[in-house]
Amino acid sequence: MRMGKSEKSLSEDPNLGANAPDIDIGINADDRKAISESLMQVLADAFTLYLKTHNFHWNITGKMFNSLHLMFETQYNEQWIALDEIAERIRALGYNVPASYKDFQRLSTIKDDTTVEHTDWREMVRQLTLGNEAVSRTARKSLEIADKAGDDPTVDMLTSRLKVHEKNAWMLRSLLQ
Ligand SMILES: [Fe+2]
Repeated sequence: MRMGKSEKSLSEDPNLGANAPDIDIGINADDRKAISESLMQVLADAFTLYLKTHNFHWNITGKMFNSLHLMFETQYNEQWIALDEIAERIRALGYNVPASYKDFQRLSTIKDDTTVEHTDWREMVRQLTLGNEAVSRTARKSLEIADKAGDDPTVDMLTSRLKVHEKNAWMLRSLLQ
């Protein structure tokens, strides 16, 4: 079958294809920028906490090994899935995701000062308690910005993240009381 002239030209010349339309989801550009930038901070904090939690899962020693090795695993698995959701929300709002170690270090409020010498379980639990609270604070700031802009999907996502991180902080803190 012979291809029509216009069909052939379309497939061979990408400039003749449709261009991506501008984003128009009912949130103005300034708000999309502010929400995205706040989500980048949430992502950086969440990734740093994820890595710290996985690190402690690997390096835990002592009489609490069994229960904490498992507890940390439950937490980092849940956090890993959430990272994808946060990053893809940034994309849906029209921004690229800063996701290198450099980006995360620059944007995170959690100090990534973990070394393999930190194997005392109480110190691990203390750091993870503080880490979960740090993510909660950053997520809460972002939620306020999203809420003012009427960005319900982001509000919904961050509400879920707050529930998880505040619960984690409570459970971790309880181990030290
Ligand atoms: Fe493991």
